[in-house]
Amino acid sequence: MRMVDLIEYKKNNGEFNQQQIQFIIDGYVDGSIPDYQMSALLMAICFQGLTAKETAMLTQAMEYSGDIIDLSKIEGVKVDKHSTGGVGDKTSLVLGPIVAACGGKVAKMSGRGLGHTGGTLDKLESIPGFNIYVSEEDFIQQVNDIGLAIIGQSATLVPADKKIYALRDVTGTVSCIPLIASSIMSKKLASGADTILLDVKYGNGAFMQTLEDAKKLAQTMIDIGKHCHKDTRATISSMSQPLGNAIGNSLEVIEAIETLKGKGPQDLEELCLKAGSTMLVQAKLYQDESLAYKALQEVISDGKALEKLKEMVQRQGGDVSYIENPELFEKPSVIMKITSKKTGYVQSLEAKNLGIVSMKLGGGRMTKDEDVDHAVGLVLNKKIGDHVEIGETLLTVYARNELSQELLNEIYQSYTIVDEFVEKPILIEEIMK
Ligand code: URA
Repeated sequence: MRMVDLIEYKKNNGEFNQQQIQFIIDGYVDGSIPDYQMSALLMAICFQGLTAKETAMLTQAMEYSGDIIDLSKIEGVKVDKHSTGGVGDKTSLVLGPIVAACGGKVAKMSGRGLGHTGGTLDKLESIPGFNIYVSEEDFIQQVNDIGLAIIGQSATLVPADKKIYALRDVTGTVSCIPLIASSIMSKKLASGADTILLDVKYGNGAFMQTLEDAKKLAQTMIDIGKHCHKDTRATISSMSQPLGNAIGNSLEVIEAIETLKGKGPQDLEELCLKAGSTMLVQAKLYQDESLAYKALQEVISDGKALEKLKEMVQRQGGDVSYIENPELFEKPSVIMKITSKKTGYVQSLEAKNLGIVSMKLGGGRMTKDEDVDHAVGLVLNKKIGDHVEIGETLLTVYARNELSQELLNEIYQSYTIVDEFVEKPILIEEIMK
């Protein structure tokens, strides 16, 4: 088999078989297929697409390119979730504890953020001492003991994706549904959980810009899950504005703590309760979502959910006093309120721009080796549909230095304020399975 023939074949819209896909993945991982040939193939895939069968075969070839995590020593149904990412997305920090407090076994491997804001691991690392480097044995033990662990993805998991993703990043081939689906699902399948809940986001601050594309991506991933006999479902949620109010690592941990106390922003709580009820049904702990929803509300109101977060933090070496008293999180020297120049209703709020502002403050990384600043970020006081008076605070900035005029302009340009009444947007469009 020759790679050049396979590139031509896909260019002419041919459908690959199992052997051809295996040849491509093996060859790219062992270095016998060079980057330039793989780039050409990825671009051909972007234009011609992959069938559902090809996408499933590609996913499995990638899944088995490295180690597979064996979670069979954990009793019960192991549930996992994955978000396609968005600005202010701290759902894992809330979902993990509430689902575990209701008896779910949450064994989650997360990645770091690349792009506008930090990832779940960066957020957790803002808790002093929190360790994300946990051995497989300790990971399994922790989930067996307390039902919850969130750790860093093992370096040996899906090497094919690491290589292909790095290449896609520099060849304009990231935004391609079958490639995104196989990338995400290969890692989720290799992580070994029994069920997968995907939160597929759409809108300005998300990978998928439109609802239609988000649904297509979700369906592609659900089909892969079906092919692999894994219960895979997806919430389709809007990222037309940041989720919750906080953007930035420790600011998001504080917001997650508040949400676990029942005092968080309504949109974040709603998403976590709906996604959590789906996870509990997937785990077969509840027969229907409405009962699961009530159980999740109960663990928030009786304090068990917050207790679960504390247990996880303690097991992973973090300082629990920060969870008990979030005032302990370091505050940077500049805390600046940005006030409205106009009276009216917030019509739009550019999530991506605000994510980039947070990154420029130091809260996210531009290259994968950069450190993130855990203390900086933004807290929104006004979101879409809110009424605002001239001089009222739109958002609060947490920064190390005074803001440049350029950054201030970027913040102001993120808000559109109009005279007419604006409805609050729908957050969860649907739950697909
Ligand atoms: N997240 C991933 O893990 N892979 C993609 O291709 C896109 C988003």
